[in-house]
Amino acid sequence: MDKLPSHLPSEPPRRKRAHLRSPLLAAAATLFSLGVLNLNFQSQGVKFVQVPINAAEIQHKCKLLDAKPGPPDDFHLRTVSDRFQPGTPPTLIRNATIWTGRVSGHEVVVGDLLLDRGIIQSLGDIPQSVLDAYNNLVVVDAEGAWVSPGIVDMHSHLGVDSAPALKGSDDTNSLKGLVLPWLRSLDGLNTHDEAYRLSVSGGVTTSVILPGSADAIGGQAFVIKLRPTVERSSSSMLLEPPYSLNNSDTEHLSRPRWRQMKHACGENPSRVYSGTRMDTIWAFRQGYDTARKIKESQDEYCQKALANQWDNLGDYPEDLQWEALVDVLRGRVKLSNEFKFSIAAFHHAHETYLVPDLVKKAHGTTPAVALFATNGRYKREAYRGSEFAPRILSDNGLRVVMKSDHPVLNSRHLVYEAQQAHYYGLAENLALAAVTSTPATVIGQDHRIGFIKTGYDADVIVWDSHPLALGATPKQVFIDGIAQIAQPFSVKKAAPLQRAPETPNFDKEMEDTLKYDGLPPLQPIKDYSGIVTFTNVSSIHLRHGRSIREVFSASVEKRAGKVIIERGHVKCAGHCSEDAVAHGSRRINLHGGSISPGLLTYGSSLGVTEIQMESSTNDGDVFDPLTGKVPSIVGGDGSIIQAVDGLQFDGRNSLSAYRFGVTTGIVAPTSSGFLSGLSTAFSTGVAHRMVEGAVLQNVTALHVTVGHSKASVSTQIATLRRLILGGGDGDLAVRFHQVAEGELPLVIEVHSADIMASLIHLKQEAEHRSGNIIKMTFSGASEAHLLAKEIGENGVGVILSPSRPFPSTWQSRRILPGAPLTEQNAVAVLTANNVTVGLGVEEAWAARNLRFDVGWSALQTNGQLSKSEALALASTNLEILLGLNTENSDLVATQGGDLISFEGKVISVVSPGRGVVDLF
Ligand SMILES: *[C@@H]1O[C@H](CO)[C@@H](O)[C@H](O)[C@H]1NC(C)=O
Ligand SMILES: *[C@@H]1O[C@H](CO)[C@@H](O)[C@H](O)[C@H]1NC(C)=O
Ligand SMILES: *[C@@H]1O[C@H](CO)[C@@H](O)[C@H](O)[C@H]1NC(C)=O
Ligand SMILES: *[C@@H]1O[C@H](CO)[C@@H](O)[C@H](O)[C@H]1NC(C)=O
Ligand SMILES: *[C@@H]1O[C@H](CO)[C@@H](O)[C@H](O)[C@H]1NC(C)=O
Repeated sequence: MDKLPSHLPSEPPRRKRAHLRSPLLAAAATLFSLGVLNLNFQSQGVKFVQVPINAAEIQHKCKLLDAKPGPPDDFHLRTVSDRFQPGTPPTLIRNATIWTGRVSGHEVVVGDLLLDRGIIQSLGDIPQSVLDAYNNLVVVDAEGAWVSPGIVDMHSHLGVDSAPALKGSDDTNSLKGLVLPWLRSLDGLNTHDEAYRLSVSGGVTTSVILPGSADAIGGQAFVIKLRPTVERSSSSMLLEPPYSLNNSDTEHLSRPRWRQMKHACGENPSRVYSGTRMDTIWAFRQGYDTARKIKESQDEYCQKALANQWDNLGDYPEDLQWEALVDVLRGRVKLSNEFKFSIAAFHHAHETYLVPDLVKKAHGTTPAVALFATNGRYKREAYRGSEFAPRILSDNGLRVVMKSDHPVLNSRHLVYEAQQAHYYGLAENLALAAVTSTPATVIGQDHRIGFIKTGYDADVIVWDSHPLALGATPKQVFIDGIAQIAQPFSVKKAAPLQRAPETPNFDKEMEDTLKYDGLPPLQPIKDYSGIVTFTNVSSIHLRHGRSIREVFSASVEKRAGKVIIERGHVKCAGHCSEDAVAHGSRRINLHGGSISPGLLTYGSSLGVTEIQMESSTNDGDVFDPLTGKVPSIVGGDGSIIQAVDGLQFDGRNSLSAYRFGVTTGIVAPTSSGFLSGLSTAFSTGVAHRMVEGAVLQNVTALHVTVGHSKASVSTQIATLRRLILGGGDGDLAVRFHQVAEGELPLVIEVHSADIMASLIHLKQEAEHRSGNIIKMTFSGASEAHLLAKEIGENGVGVILSPSRPFPSTWQSRRILPGAPLTEQNAVAVLTANNVTVGLGVEEAWAARNLRFDVGWSALQTNGQLSKSEALALASTNLEILLGLNTENSDLVATQGGDLISFEGKVISVVSPGRGVVDLF
């Protein structure tokens, strides 16, 4: 592809020249176009000036050129929303704890909330006389629950990058040039994206739908509300679209509405167009120069038009391709910038926290910064991304927004981004604002959404716990006053947290992040000193063979516990006498924290990659014998690759995982085809492979993928059948023989229930022939709940990855979403059918969050799982499913709270295998 788009015009913009030069033509025109021109004879009688028939309209348009966008002056007098759906009953939400977003996010009103005609009519103490006026009021008793404004996602590709992903519905990026300001995300919006209802069930009510970031200027973004409309059209989802959309600009007398546009700088456009950042910036400059020329000619034209100098003036100069960019220059467009090009907000912006003063120097209003909480390091520009960025930016007075980039992150869980930002230090008021009032303000819609105020849109969420508590789930979501979940299911949480979690102190980590320019050292401090005593311990979970048991609970015992460690080994846990402990040995007060088994991560390429999009930092893909050729020097089709040979240690994702309690990883060779190879188990916290205990087990399992790819699914299953029944060659045949003998687990990455059914048949067939039980594990397994009974009966294990499902592809579309949409989730259904279940992650950056995935899963299973069983999902169960037989007894100590909550902080890893206590 060209480095520069070919269609950028080098000549001035085309103008229609309707005005007339020759007297003859003028006379003819007079005859033919009386309907078009007014003739205005001037007193001298020598020359006449043609005043266009629409002169008043033109002058009106010219006067509006300097008008800044915003709602009409009388907007707040409205009593009914333009989006009101007739027939929607008025609703009273009684006894709510309402976070309004006002007073910088500090106001909480306890009382009632009245929704009618699409807007919030009243809140707080609502007089009975007001309520008496309604005869069909729907009353919802919130029983004191938290109510917040609907979530506003400022960066989403919902509807353009649809689920399930199909070639026919990918409208994310146009590849027709670097600068495409004339494209509109609305024109590609798919009303049948499965994700709308899922995101709504997570509380998202409004999203800005952006084109992708393949282009420097990808096109215009549009604000939509996510609810289905009666009209079922994409345009009926729009919130305050610009009047230019239907050419009614000039009908609207006061002021225009805000428009939105996507700009992307940096790696993405450079990659797509095989160019450099220099090329991208030149494309911007060229585009803006074209727009500037048009703007100047418009200004010149209007100066004359407003002075009634119509002579030879002709038509108002404009160009459909460039009008949006001209509006940018007129300050009417909220720019959404990926990296460095400022107006409304910098999105992704992984390094802004390192340069807050530079951000403040941006022209005009200081841009807000729209971030992920912990999704980072996937490309060079994201490598210094930090979990402390939201706090650092807000400490510097910058506005912080948390965004999904849906489907990069599933926007259903956007509130989780705010929760994590809060965990790492962003203040409670700002964390809630970061997904509600701040984005509403940044996109220019704060006159109607993002707050709970009288006269605002009736977009509100009733939560089952405090929205910043882990696993907080909406009980109901209203958009335009319409309840969105027909039959909501509530999770029965044992003790829902009805306040924001008391999060740990990360001052030191934050300071180090700044001191080391975003790359603070992550290696632990090693204590080989002999004896370490943990005091003031609330709960102790230890492994007992292949399960986990709670061996001490302060709430049961009515007093705090102790754990004594000697050279990495537990000497005593619970009630310990310290008589034998040497004076002066290290004592660590856990302040009500916990001791739990170290977690195990599987599913991402952690261990064989560092920066996902930089091939030079990764082990790379294996050759796939099914769809390509394996070189004979490797061993041809009979070869099999071992991940242990490609292990990389000391990476930032590994060390981060270690610091957050994930002490072990299992990784298979990276493959984009059918055959992956042999996985290995390693420690995430060591410097290199020669360290004692760096590799826990050289070979753990054999890994293949069965799903949509170059070879048909049936071909893949036929291949697997042949290999299991003894038809392969070389080392591959040896390994498949071990599988058939039940010695080596076979881990199959598979999402579709139909494929799982074929695999279960294959397992039965092979077992029938050999008399051995094959150890088979399905990984990914989005649709496994559909076959829970059969999977359980056939002794197959399941690793759910992602642990919170999303219908990203056709083969993974039949998910069980869990509350509030369904009563149960996949973990609950599979566990109830005696399936051994593990939790996986898809990307290496996400390994560190496994502890929260565990906590969240435990909360979502209606109390079906004990804490021990929840911890097993990401430790002992995974060991069974992935063939790790080596004793792995790492323990994790947390301070302030337990491992799987937002109140605990991991401060130490105890490793008997390595004979060490690591301190952070
Ligand atoms: C509101 O709900 C809480 C929690 O259920 C309850 O204790 C309180 O009495 C309720 N208040 C009113 C006014 O109904
Ligand atoms: C054009 O769109 C605006 C904004 O949605 C709306 O108010 C107006 O009625 C529309 N006009 C026509 C002619 O459809
Ligand atoms: C134990 O931890 C709790 C919770 O932080 C704290 O209130 C208490 O003072 C601590 N006790 C001791 C003896 O340090
Ligand atoms: C892994 O294999 C190597 C030989 O390749 C061996 O030296 C090492 O002890 C093995 N490691 C484990 C944990 O079994
Ligand atoms: C699960 O296993 C238990 C104990 O082995 C058994 O009693 C129960 O019937 C099994 N449940 C299902 C659904 O198979």
